[in-house]
Amino acid sequence: MNPRPEAYQMRLNERAVTLSQTAFLGFQPGDFEIGGREQFVYLINSGLNPDSKVVDLGCGVLRAGYWLIHFLNPDCYFGIEPHAGRLKMGTEAILEPGLIETKNPRFDTNPDFDTSVFGEKFDFFLAYSIWTHACKSQIKATLDSYVRDSKEESVFLTTYLPADEENPDYEGGIWFGTSHESDTQGCIFHSLDWISGECDRRNLNVTELGKDKTYGQSWLKISRRMP
Ligand SMILES: C[S@@+](CC[C@H](N)C(=O)[O-])C[C@H]1O[C@@H](n2cnc3c(N)ncnc32)[C@H](O)[C@@H]1O
Repeated sequence: MNPRPEAYQMRLNERAVTLSQTAFLGFQPGDFEIGGREQFVYLINSGLNPDSKVVDLGCGVLRAGYWLIHFLNPDCYFGIEPHAGRLKMGTEAILEPGLIETKNPRFDTNPDFDTSVFGEKFDFFLAYSIWTHACKSQIKATLDSYVRDSKEESVFLTTYLPADEENPDYEGGIWFGTSHESDTQGCIFHSLDWISGECDRRNLNVTELGKDKTYGQSWLKISRRMP
């Protein structure tokens, strides 16, 4: 007899689709499983190991967190998500029962992208579909957290939507899209020149990794400039 509750007999994607019937998850749920796996592949291709410490900025309902928590050793996954309801859906309806106890992921709901709350130095920072909603001061806050709380060889993987003539560089001063404070959906665009300038200022390299297959977001790999 399978001792797991009925919901966990569903495939992962079905669990996300079922959840989305009662609440917006932060994205359309149809590609939940392959989209999360694709984030995981970007991390693996950048050198992720089971003992890597990973912080997932805006981890939502654990689309990538699901794969990371399974793969990483205990005490290695850290998620920040100010929308407490999304975090609850992730921990209670996406992760299988018992996984939290086995892997001991840690979570925080601060809205400031403040990774110092965990008192750790991280090997990987992940911000998937965060700069597609974040205003410029919020992007700067993620870069400042990376500089402060990363190890020398750490990598910051993030996605954005490049600004162009049709999609102007976002100059607003607030998050644009759904969050703990807003139910309005939407995405914004940032110029790569501006991003590169902010990386320069912090002595960081930025490398373009192309677009992902699932959602067509543009990936960037950020790392410290070595002397
Ligand atoms: C498009 S979703 C992406 C979620 C997740 N990274 C994924 O791939 O499924 C954006 C997430 O950022 C969260 N968010 C909004 N404001 C935030 C803030 N100030 N700090 C961190 N996350 C925030 C939203 O609640 C939402 O869960």
